[in-house]
Amino acid sequence: MTALNLVDTDPAELAVDAVVVGVYAHDGGDAKLLLASGAESVAAAFSDRPGGGLAETLRMLGATGAVGEVTKVAAFGAVTAPLVVAVGLGPEPAGAAPAAETLRRAAGSATRALAGSTSVALVLPLSDRDPLTDDELTAGVRAVAEGAVLGAYQFAGYKTKAVRKDPVRKVVLHVPDAAARLAKAAVKRTGTVTAAVTRTRDWINTAPNELRPPQFAAQAKEAAEAAQLDVTVLDEKALAKQGYGGILAVGLGSAAAPRLVRIAYEPAGATRRVALIGKGITFDTGGVSIKPAQGMWEMKSDMSGAAAVVSTMIAIAALKPKVAVVAYAPMAENMASGSAYRPGDVVTMYNGRKVEVLNTDAEGRMILGDAIARACEDEPDYLFEVSTLTGGQVIALGKRISGVMGTPELCERVRAAGDLAGEPAWPMPLPEDVRKGMDSEVADISQVNAGMDRAGHMLQGGVFLSEFVAEGVQWAHIDIAGPSYHSGEAFGYWAKGGTGVPVRTLIGLVEEIAAEA
Ligand code: BES
Ligand code: MN
Ligand code: ZN
Repeated sequence: MTALNLVDTDPAELAVDAVVVGVYAHDGGDAKLLLASGAESVAAAFSDRPGGGLAETLRMLGATGAVGEVTKVAAFGAVTAPLVVAVGLGPEPAGAAPAAETLRRAAGSATRALAGSTSVALVLPLSDRDPLTDDELTAGVRAVAEGAVLGAYQFAGYKTKAVRKDPVRKVVLHVPDAAARLAKAAVKRTGTVTAAVTRTRDWINTAPNELRPPQFAAQAKEAAEAAQLDVTVLDEKALAKQGYGGILAVGLGSAAAPRLVRIAYEPAGATRRVALIGKGITFDTGGVSIKPAQGMWEMKSDMSGAAAVVSTMIAIAALKPKVAVVAYAPMAENMASGSAYRPGDVVTMYNGRKVEVLNTDAEGRMILGDAIARACEDEPDYLFEVSTLTGGQVIALGKRISGVMGTPELCERVRAAGDLAGEPAWPMPLPEDVRKGMDSEVADISQVNAGMDRAGHMLQGGVFLSEFVAEGVQWAHIDIAGPSYHSGEAFGYWAKGGTGVPVRTLIGLVEEIAAEA
């Protein structure tokens, strides 16, 4: 992964492959550009060159200052680095620094565009105030550092011949004082957080034939144990013995048996307990209710929730918040075969509830119902469940914004934490009429609307899962069907493929809960 360091020396004299400065769009309508604070010495080094200086050169090269726009200028000896790169920061903010998400995207666009370079210096405005407040410094360093490391990310892939440029190896962040304790702490934390996001992305991007439930469980166990976490893995025999009917039913169709991974972090003196649950369908064909071929390959990302919670646990082990956190990752492969579960089946879930299966493609809620019921036996105060649960989420909120259902207060906290992390999430209701529509003729509940009416599709998922949450637990179901996987061109600090949403939100929430105790 990309290494992060701090510098406070003159950007014009940095011996790196490229120096990145910020540029704002000027709102005077005159196509002028404004160099952001930090760029002064670099601009001064260009000012005596014929042609009108750095801002004018950038304008001639077509720069507009739009967020994430990257313009490269050869330095020809004006500064020590051979290349000066301007990254757009949008319109000049009134007073303070650009929004954290603007900094993340700009930093990410810059490091992505500079793949192939060994070392890159980022000289971006953390705030126009001098000196910076502690909070501004921490937030600014975190944002630029996160964006830079995540923007540099590339999945190693499976090509037998090297065809791409290597990710940037070293990033140095320019700050007012490189020895400042807060700046160093922000860099250290960012290293932990981005490692968790990177691990999540790698698991999502792994080909589904290489990451079936037993392998995924083994890799999760190995990584969590290396982080000194306590891990238990239930195999198909243990699942059967303990009555995990939902996980077993979905796993029936695959030659690779299901698993339930439990990872615990229990520091001494913790007064609160958090449960994290993530959907780990290593591939979702839909089963007997099979999906169309077009795009089915993206269903290798149906384990994004499990990847996110396992990776979050590893970050928590390093960050050591004073709160107990237990994660559950149910893992299964949803295949169509002679042994697969079928529409019409009635499944007895872990909590004894009988579920009528109407559509084998609604498999996520089957494995999650079991995992949620099990997690509630640990008596958590807060329960967060993350899943690529419904196409309805994508229809309702699009590819960037997760849907959140559960107890209203906790949903609002997820929204706020997501906003801070740049992982937007929006609260959605759990209407009574949607629950009514899931009344089964033969069992306690149908898996989906009894007539398979798709009205309130995303909400049906949330309503179903609510049946497995114990009384009194504050809970939130986060549907990440859209935001977990980026199918378009790379953008900001998102590469094509797994995004790592909502790892940064979960880490933020756990830290926030630890601080309140
Ligand atoms: N894994 C899918 C949901 C999904 C869709 C994730 C698109 C990412 C992108 C889930 O298991 C599924 O198939 N859901 C069905 C539910 C339906 C059968 C009730 C859906 O959304 O159509
Ligand atoms: Mn499905
Ligand atoms: Zn699925």
